[in-house]
Amino acid sequence: MEVLTRVRTEFLPYALPDIGEEEIAEVVQTLKSGWITTGPKTKEFERRMGDYLGVKHAIAVSSCTAALHVALAAIGVGRGDEVITSPLTFCATANAVVHLGGRPVFADIGDDLNIDPVEIERHITSRTKAIIPVHHSGQPCRMDEILACARAYNLPIIEDAAHAIGAVYHGRMIGTIGDVTAFSFYATKNMTTAEGGMIATDNDDLAEKMRLLSLHGISKDAWKRYSSEGSWYYEVLCAGYKYNMTDIQAALGIHQLAKLEQFIQARSWYASTYNEAFGDMPEIQVPLANAGLRHAWHLYVIQLNLERLTIDRAEFIEALRAENIGTSVHFIPVHLHPYYRDQFGYRRGDYPNAERIYDRIISLPLYPKMTEEAMQDVIAAVQRTVSKYRR
Ligand SMILES: Cc1ncc(COP(=O)(O)O)c(C=O)c1O
Repeated sequence: MEVLTRVRTEFLPYALPDIGEEEIAEVVQTLKSGWITTGPKTKEFERRMGDYLGVKHAIAVSSCTAALHVALAAIGVGRGDEVITSPLTFCATANAVVHLGGRPVFADIGDDLNIDPVEIERHITSRTKAIIPVHHSGQPCRMDEILACARAYNLPIIEDAAHAIGAVYHGRMIGTIGDVTAFSFYATKNMTTAEGGMIATDNDDLAEKMRLLSLHGISKDAWKRYSSEGSWYYEVLCAGYKYNMTDIQAALGIHQLAKLEQFIQARSWYASTYNEAFGDMPEIQVPLANAGLRHAWHLYVIQLNLERLTIDRAEFIEALRAENIGTSVHFIPVHLHPYYRDQFGYRRGDYPNAERIYDRIISLPLYPKMTEEAMQDVIAAVQRTVSKYRR
């Protein structure tokens, strides 16, 4: 292994958005137009997203968290209901269940960091109301098995596709498989609206409920009330939430969506270059990519073979930081957080795979805006750290 000697002088963040002149011009035009909240740009963004995904209904909302919340509310999750999801996810997935009075039940993961369908079935009870597979890093879960399990027990599937816009599972676009799919356009995601989310579904009934729930339960699009064809009259049909997307966000989204394919290609290229660099290092396990899928490569997550190193994951991260390389960890398993421990009685030992994997994972910088030179700096810093702390 040839180890390069150059050390970065400037800090490399683990993620950065890629905003071009087109986005900036559209946002400025929106600001000048007099219509800055939900309106024509949001409708346009929804239409384009529906076409891209190939779904009947695309509903723009303020975040993926909001999307998950209204999806679970629309299928009727309530007090005492159980919803099965992955422990290796962002707290948002489980929090959305808690907001409705439900109990998040975790099912352990496999080496691909995704929920294990066999574990899902093991956790189904008479109180189970839904399953939320999380497509970790942008790699689709084993949806055929999850669908079969959901059908057998008559359970809806709400996909947490915060990482997975543009991912494809055996020829099917993520967004077209489960009953509802929730996407995130948070600043670091594969495409961004700064904050934002999208709900995708082919189910007319759920779509209508989710539209209502995402804007106060108001019977028609509020923005139409203020336009020339609008009227002052509206009715509140349920106590909905305030989760609408603004036209400023949609202005960003329209152009980010147009660049999504090129963004994913850049991410895939970086991922395969990392794979080549780390593939034969016994101290590092590269991400396990399943066959028959298009991985969206939101994250590039290595696993450290700790048995071959004299330092732990936290120390490895510190060593990379000393080399000016930013990293992150996706995720601290939800059941280990104090709230989930205290409120639901979860503890270390409950999900051995998620815990073992958590202790070893590091997300390396991966984003289209990163230069090739920066990527080589990451590779060199990882190789140097391994050489220094090899057992
Ligand atoms: C797996 C997962 N689910 C949900 C979310 C929530 O997304 P948002 O920030 O758009 O609410 C995130 C955000 O990081 C995530 O990583």
